[in-house]
Amino acid sequence: MRAMGFYSSQRGHRTWAILLCFCALLSGVNGGSPRLYIVYLGDVKHEHPDDVVASHHDILATVLGSKDDSLASMAHNYKHGFSGFAAMLTQDQAEELAELPEVISVERSKSYTTTTTRSWDFLGLGLSYQMPSELLHRSRYGEDIIIGVIDTGIWPESRSFSDEGYGPVPSRWKGVCQVGEGWGSDNCSRKIVGARFYTAGVDEENLKMDFLSPRDKDGHGTHTASTAAGSPVEAVSFHGLAAGVARGGAPRARIAVYKSVWPSSGGWRAGTTATVLAAIDDAIHDGVDVLSLSLVAEENSFGALHAVQKGIAVVYAAGNLGPARQVVSNTAPWVITVAASKIDRSFPTVITLGNKQQIVGQSLYYEEDSSPPRRGFKLLAFGGLCSSSALNATDVRGKIVLCASLLASLLEPFPLALRNVLNGGGVGIIFAQYTTNLVDATADCKGIACVLVDLDTANLITLYMGDARSPVAKIAPARTVTGEEAVAPKVAAFSSRGPSINYPEVIKPDIAAPGASILGAIKDAYVIGSGTSMATPHVSGVVALLKALHPNWSPAALKSAIMTTASVSDGRGMPILAQGMPQKIADPFDYGGGHINPNKAADPGLIYDIDPSDYNKFFSCNFMKSVQCNATMLPGYHLNLPSIAIPDLRHPITVSRTVTNVGEVNTIYHAEIKSPPGVKMDVEPAALVFNAANKVITFKVKLSPLWSLQGDYTFGSLSWHNDQKTVRIPIAVRMTIHDFYADVA
Ligand SMILES: *[C@@H]1O[C@H](CO)[C@@H](O)[C@H](O)[C@H]1NC(C)=O
Ligand SMILES: *[C@@H]1O[C@H](CO)[C@@H](O)[C@H](O)[C@H]1NC(C)=O
Ligand SMILES: *[C@@H]1O[C@H](CO)[C@@H](O)[C@H](O)[C@H]1NC(C)=O
Repeated sequence: MRAMGFYSSQRGHRTWAILLCFCALLSGVNGGSPRLYIVYLGDVKHEHPDDVVASHHDILATVLGSKDDSLASMAHNYKHGFSGFAAMLTQDQAEELAELPEVISVERSKSYTTTTTRSWDFLGLGLSYQMPSELLHRSRYGEDIIIGVIDTGIWPESRSFSDEGYGPVPSRWKGVCQVGEGWGSDNCSRKIVGARFYTAGVDEENLKMDFLSPRDKDGHGTHTASTAAGSPVEAVSFHGLAAGVARGGAPRARIAVYKSVWPSSGGWRAGTTATVLAAIDDAIHDGVDVLSLSLVAEENSFGALHAVQKGIAVVYAAGNLGPARQVVSNTAPWVITVAASKIDRSFPTVITLGNKQQIVGQSLYYEEDSSPPRRGFKLLAFGGLCSSSALNATDVRGKIVLCASLLASLLEPFPLALRNVLNGGGVGIIFAQYTTNLVDATADCKGIACVLVDLDTANLITLYMGDARSPVAKIAPARTVTGEEAVAPKVAAFSSRGPSINYPEVIKPDIAAPGASILGAIKDAYVIGSGTSMATPHVSGVVALLKALHPNWSPAALKSAIMTTASVSDGRGMPILAQGMPQKIADPFDYGGGHINPNKAADPGLIYDIDPSDYNKFFSCNFMKSVQCNATMLPGYHLNLPSIAIPDLRHPITVSRTVTNVGEVNTIYHAEIKSPPGVKMDVEPAALVFNAANKVITFKVKLSPLWSLQGDYTFGSLSWHNDQKTVRIPIAVRMTIHDFYADVA
């Protein structure tokens, strides 16, 4: 069994990121006490849903002994999109069940949790009703599309979910409006067309901390739903910052809410595989077109596979553990895995030193009208790491404290330093780190001035402090700057990077989209959030528009359109960078195909489509129990994905790909080959001639190692060009000699 991931996200500072631990490695095996297990039965067909449930009870009763025990242990029945159930079982019972011939797999339910103004203009989806972008216009703003959001619920009173001017709910919709605490049947509307909530396997204590209904106490689900499909709301901002029209990518798409994630003590969130699978099962039945999951858990994703095989595109967050390699989550080949980028907006915050020198950091620092003016100069103090012991010897009362961290993550050190400075009576914090990217950590500095600077800037402050007898500084509130002066987009430092551990024959993530400092709805206000959680609904919104435009395209075709038209350079032709230590030119393990380009994705020219049954053909071993796993299966890189990843190239390997012409009927595409360094790449044929009789063409790509080398990935691409279009796929190759050692960092 693979290591189970346990992920959680911290809310305290509105930075939605995730901690990881390989719990199966850390915690021992639990033999005695019952735990929640997911029993997967596959694609079983029954005449009536009640028959499915009865058959689940029969299966469970064979192990538990009686129907009554089965009734007591069953937590949830999956019966629409696929067959299976969640039940409380001891390990012995789970093992016994796994032996039954009708059972495909039995796995512990795992913890599962979460991981706009400017961003849509930046993507070329400007919303001027006089001159809407072409894609928005042609897709009718996504009006007929239903996006299922599996998250922490929704706040129906937010202006982002007004249904004013909407036509009737599409008649194919079969969902429900599940009433509960603080949620009446009138909370569903022509905008929020359905809402459900799931509690199976979630602790009673956690349920008590939230509304027992689809209502979103947390805010995460409201934020993501408003980003995917929020109606336009004029003149919103976060205390004056990031001001503009807030709205979703598909501003007229309908939202179906599946609340599966609950709060947990200490500001963490908790969901389970059981709740998320229940949501996916219902969403398949209800008739959603797109599923948006700003969540992570390392899971085998058969739920998402069933959704994709029923034509529903599934969009998942890559996770926020970057810039480390090999940490990308939700990497099944059938889903779209989304990395986060930083767009062309920044929040410069001026720090004035006592010698009149002005230096600029980044923050969301604002002054409330009611708060006493803090603008005057204050004494500066060194706080080192600003740990409690580091500040113990320093008197920081009434001072602005300079803190520094050399760690890659901002999630841990900044909140700790802030707390210690506050405890010491400091009135400001200047926090130095290699990136100022996670400014939303500064959205709530508990009433003191705060600003992030990079290490270079911190050095200027340090030099001044060394020279001055009594060094002082003042920090002005942040401003918002958009456009030309920022190099953008960049893959955000926190965005989890590939390669995928579970699916190394697939390039992951698939695509990057804006996810840093995104303004979205929370309750009745608008708040800035960062994370791949924010990037995911950007892609879900674009998928909704594309689906409206091309109703017959499969999830694989939609993903292909998005990946093959993505940008790998910015507006000036400079390569897109990936933040990290150090910052570098982005590669496919940072952003997959590149940065999303919605208008180009509307007319991709060629698509790499996939027969949905092929996923089973190549990847059954990833989600079936070992007896049913076919060891003679072809390697996954033969799947017709819009990318090629070969994790173990020792001898020449030939893969084929098939493209379908969805553009001009009579046209010729020519190959442009960028071989990964160290690899010879041949494409046959080098030209693809399409006409009315010839819409689908298969070509071969032969990759031959030039040297015998061990362990490093190199990257290239294959682009098909005609007069108008470029259809590009990324290529990642790792040459190996031995199996057991690799250097991917
Ligand atoms: C939602 O339902 C609650 C409880 O029934 C009600 O108080 C509230 O006004 C409703 N909100 C909307 C937007 O309909
Ligand atoms: C702070 O200093 C005092 C006195 O020197 C000491 O007793 C205390 O343990 C220190 N606290 C920390 C957190 O280092
Ligand atoms: C195993 O895979 C091979 C090659 O794809 C196929 O021919 C064979 O039918 C498969 N066997 C089973 C039991 O699925």
